Amino acid sequence: MEALALERKAEQNRELRERLLQLKKERNAIILAHYYQRDEIQEVADFRGDSFLLAQKAAATDADVIVFCGVHFMGESAKILAPNKTVIIPDERAGCPMADMVNVDGLRKLKAEHPNATVVTYINSSAEIKAETDICCTSANAVKVVNSVEGDEVIWVPDKNLGHYVQQHTDKKMIIWEGYCNTHDMLTVKDVEEMKAKYPNAEFVVHPECRPEVVELGDFVGSTTAIIKYCKESKAKEFIVGTEDGTGYQLRLDSPDKTFHFASKYLVCPNMKVNNLKKLVRCLENMQPQIYVPPQIADKARLSLERMLQVK
Ligand code: 13P
Ligand code: SF4
Repeated sequence: MEALALERKAEQNRELRERLLQLKKERNAIILAHYYQRDEIQEVADFRGDSFLLAQKAAATDADVIVFCGVHFMGESAKILAPNKTVIIPDERAGCPMADMVNVDGLRKLKAEHPNATVVTYINSSAEIKAETDICCTSANAVKVVNSVEGDEVIWVPDKNLGHYVQQHTDKKMIIWEGYCNTHDMLTVKDVEEMKAKYPNAEFVVHPECRPEVVELGDFVGSTTAIIKYCKESKAKEFIVGTEDGTGYQLRLDSPDKTFHFASKYLVCPNMKVNNLKKLVRCLENMQPQIYVPPQIADKARLSLERMLQVK
């Protein structure tokens, strides 16, 4: 961008931030932003976090309005956990392709085939799927949740890569759905090997939504929050990062003296990037789009989320 255009954009953003502060006060709203959001959104959020932390914040807030900057299933989870709050999102087109890879009929069929299995569902799923679920999990607590359930058999939906990772850390037999995250699944062994050759002193940190053969190359494997924490505490000064590029915002904030190289230029979730500062201000102005979950679905789905929040 040219200097003049940059200056104009900075001025627009200043005005938008001022308007946002005013609206937040008027509506008694809090802004929750996932680490994969654009910097301009993370900058103005009351809480930044991974899926787990943001679900906890939504469940605990005393604000009247939750503005959820992430993808649709995250807004839905907030509404399910805080049914008396108004939950709005900047753009309802921000979906998660992985969440759409599992459907209720398919899951019911699997449940009928394995009547003794416990259904553990990754939070990246629709409210309807959560309503068919015994307990939810996020990438931060997936192993702990699977190991916490009774019985020897688990139906796992929808992420096959995270499912494979959990299977390495549990004796339970996992029946794994074939879904995946388009963004993380794109990272290949070749990408990582090339980066390792280019930055031989860097540690490779990787999200378990990546393919098993990529996860295997990790010096550290963990959820977005776990990766940020690990990088902050590690003695290493340089990292190759195997997760979505929005994570760079918090990585640089927490570890300003360290260098981060994203493992591929394709580690960008286009769905997360649908939201921007302008849409965030507009949604709070119009109080639209709002998340609605039919009460009969929400009541069942809430049990699976609350069970997850109770796992220590
Ligand atoms: P976490 O927030 O659990 O790290 O999950 C990553 C993700 O893909 C969210 O959509
Ligand atoms: Fe879905 Fe992957 Fe985007 Fe997360 S990063 S919202 S799992 S597509």
